[in-house]
Amino acid sequence: MKKKTRKRARSKETEKEARVKILDDALSIVEKEAIDLKFELSKLKERMRVKEAELEVFREMSNISSSSFKLDQLLDRYMDLVLKIIRAEAGTLYLTDEVKKDLIFNVVKGKVKRKITGMRIGLGEGIAGWVAQNGRPYVATDVKNDPRWLREVGNKIKFDIRDIICVPLQTPKETIGSIEVINKMDGKSFQREDLELLISLATQIAMVIENAHLLLDKEKTLSQLSGLTAISALLSSSLDPKVVRRRTMEASTQLMDCETGSLFLVDEETNELYFEVALGKEGEKVKQIRLKMGKGIAGWVAQHGEPLLISDTTKDSRWFREADKKSKFVTKNMLCVPIKVKDKVIGALEAINKLDSETFTQDDLELLNSLANEVGIAIDNANLYEEKRNTFLETAEALADAIDKRDPYTGGHTKRVTSYSLAMAKYLDLNPSETENLKLTAILHDIGKIGIPDDVLRKKGKLTDSEFDSIKKHPIFGYEIMSHIKSLKGVIPGMRSHHERPDGRGYPDRLKAEKIPLIARTISVADTFDAMTSDRPYRKRLTDAEALKEIRRCAGTQFDPMLVKTFLKAYRKGEISSDQNS
Ligand SMILES: [Fe+2]
Ligand SMILES: [Fe+2]
Repeated sequence: MKKKTRKRARSKETEKEARVKILDDALSIVEKEAIDLKFELSKLKERMRVKEAELEVFREMSNISSSSFKLDQLLDRYMDLVLKIIRAEAGTLYLTDEVKKDLIFNVVKGKVKRKITGMRIGLGEGIAGWVAQNGRPYVATDVKNDPRWLREVGNKIKFDIRDIICVPLQTPKETIGSIEVINKMDGKSFQREDLELLISLATQIAMVIENAHLLLDKEKTLSQLSGLTAISALLSSSLDPKVVRRRTMEASTQLMDCETGSLFLVDEETNELYFEVALGKEGEKVKQIRLKMGKGIAGWVAQHGEPLLISDTTKDSRWFREADKKSKFVTKNMLCVPIKVKDKVIGALEAINKLDSETFTQDDLELLNSLANEVGIAIDNANLYEEKRNTFLETAEALADAIDKRDPYTGGHTKRVTSYSLAMAKYLDLNPSETENLKLTAILHDIGKIGIPDDVLRKKGKLTDSEFDSIKKHPIFGYEIMSHIKSLKGVIPGMRSHHERPDGRGYPDRLKAEKIPLIARTISVADTFDAMTSDRPYRKRLTDAEALKEIRRCAGTQFDPMLVKTFLKAYRKGEISSDQNS
């Protein structure tokens, strides 16, 4: 019985143990699952963090893109965001420099900031350089012993760097830089999730940089185009070669955003190039320089008819150092393009020392080329106009000379009247076109004498009344001859009225005071002074003093008092003298 009882008790014991075991097993399964769940939960939490961070970036991005921004400010804000999201102690955003093929420390965040912002390393150099060159992420868990770690930079920043993750900044076309984060906060290490998160952030940032560049490029192109259009209009609005050349200089400096510019023109007679104008502090000195065709950069461009982009002038053997020596100007980089007119090179246009950038780009070269095309047209037009104008003036002078020669006693009269009138013009506040009209009117003022018979014009004795009446017709004859020429519209009234008097006793129209054109009133004083200071067959010339006295006496009757004053002023300044006539 006792035995039976013991047996039963044992079996109960076993049963209990088995039950405990089952419970233990179940518990360990539950615990394992709980651990798995906890792990899943932490993974989910991490994913949530990534998603939240991405969302924050998107939110930030849309805020920024809806306001006007500068790329540098934008990147600065992004790096703050990156450090906050990754929970890193420091970080750097590097951008590649397309021209120099290196990497710029664009935004530096953390304790290292002041010392290395703007620094450069070679593409491929260090961890960031390697990432930017290869377009692949890099994780350094033991930075100090990492073969890619750039020790010189590390020593410079004096910052205890433990671990780094660095990812490329990539657009669909290319790698434009890299982002590096340094040391996870609270002494922890970066995890795989941090790398994933950084890759995701870098993708967004690269996209924003690309869009910003596209936008800036578009804005730049637009502003350059409108600048070019405005400049073309300005260039073609003047037909004065000097004005065109000066405006060209101003335009190229402004449009190319550079320190100064130079315009060289070909002197066909000597086969040289000369500086027509050069702006800038030392411009006046540079103005003197002439180059043999083929010499210097401009000489090379003019000879070959091809443009040049020179990033470092000191390294280019074609560069003509004398110009800098004479002007004390330091030429660092330049663009030079030929100016052509109907395939013939007439000069070269230079843009020197790009502002706010290391050097000029291919785009700048194209822009300067476009400007050179406009300049070529404007210079050609102005030259043609000047040539035409000179031919016209020379023809008028030849005509006036022919009239002068008919009357040996008044030889040189036209030239002197023109010279006195122009001397007076300096004090009359005339614009260039009014001055030009005054000059032409003075040249042509007596052209009507062509219609006066020789026996009257060349008579040695005193003229009879009827002969004088015949002479008095010359302003009308001149008017009749010249009024057919449209381009002389501004000249005809002055020519017709140069013998009118403010008191109304002149001829041919007996005009009074202000009714007489200013040009005619001016020439009238100059004309009379020359007549009084010239010998006539029937009288000796007056001295200058006597003639001046007479002019003063006739102020208000024969002459406009204001112009008498003007004449006397020019005389006092030594700009009028009848010495040449004595
Ligand atoms: Fe006259
Ligand atoms: Fe005259």
